[in-house]
Amino acid sequence: MYLIAPSILSADFARLGEEVVDVIDSGADWIHFDVMDNHYVPNMTIGPVVCKAIRPLTQAIIDVHLMVKPVDRLIGDFAGAGANVITFHPEASEHIDRSLSLIRENGCQAGLVFNPATSLHYMDYVMDKLDLVLLMGVNPGFGGQKFIPSTLPKLQEVRARIQAYEQKTGRRLRVEIDGGVKVDNIAAIAQAGADTFVAGSAIYEAGKDSDAHHYDTVIAALRARLAQVA
Ligand code: DX5
Ligand code: ZN
Repeated sequence: MYLIAPSILSADFARLGEEVVDVIDSGADWIHFDVMDNHYVPNMTIGPVVCKAIRPLTQAIIDVHLMVKPVDRLIGDFAGAGANVITFHPEASEHIDRSLSLIRENGCQAGLVFNPATSLHYMDYVMDKLDLVLLMGVNPGFGGQKFIPSTLPKLQEVRARIQAYEQKTGRRLRVEIDGGVKVDNIAAIAQAGADTFVAGSAIYEAGKDSDAHHYDTVIAALRARLAQVA
C-alpha cells in the first residue's frame, strides 16, 4: 500500500539514466519527475525531452510534478513523453477542472498539489477528477529543504476528506507527500495520512556514499520505518 517515489531532482544529472534504473532496482516504486520553469517557482529543471529519454529505461510509473505556469500546454507533451501521473498546482492554472480533465483525456492519472499555505478548498468541486492529492512538505523549488511541521495536521485533514469521499463513492485516491521526507520522519508522515512518499535528497544523498550508487540500504530503511506504522 505504501509507495516510495525517489525525486530525480537530487540525482546526478550527468548519469541520469543509470540513476533512474538504480533506484528502481533498489526497490523504489515510482520515479518522481520535478518540472520547474523559473516562473511559477524560482528554479529551472527538466522537460518532456528528458522524460522521453528515461521512459524506455524503466517500467516504473513516471510521476510528473508540474511546477509551471501556465500548465495546460505541457500536459499533452508529458503524456506523449510517457508520463503516467501528472500533478499541478491549482494556483498555476486558470481553469483547474479543464486541466484535470486534460490530464485524464491524455491517458494519465491526475492530481492537485498543495503548497504549505494553499487552501484545500480547491479540491471541493473536482474530487471525481482526482486520482491523487499531493501535499508539499516544503515550499516548492528546491530539494534538500526541511519538512514544515504544520504539514502533518494538514495531511490529516486531506486524509479525512478523502476517506469521506471514498466511503461515499468506493473510489480510492492516493495521498502523496513531497519535500523533506527522511528516514526519521517518514513514520510520522504515514501516521498522519500519506501513502506515497517522494524523497529526493534522503535517497540520492545516501546512495552517493557508496561507489556503486546503490540505494538499497536507504530504501530498506524507509520501508522498515513504514512497516512499524500501525
Ligand atoms: C521540491 C520538489 C521535490 C524535491 C524533494 O520543489 O517538488 O520533489 O525534489 O526533495 P527533498 O526530498 O530533498 O526535499
Ligand atoms: Zn516534486
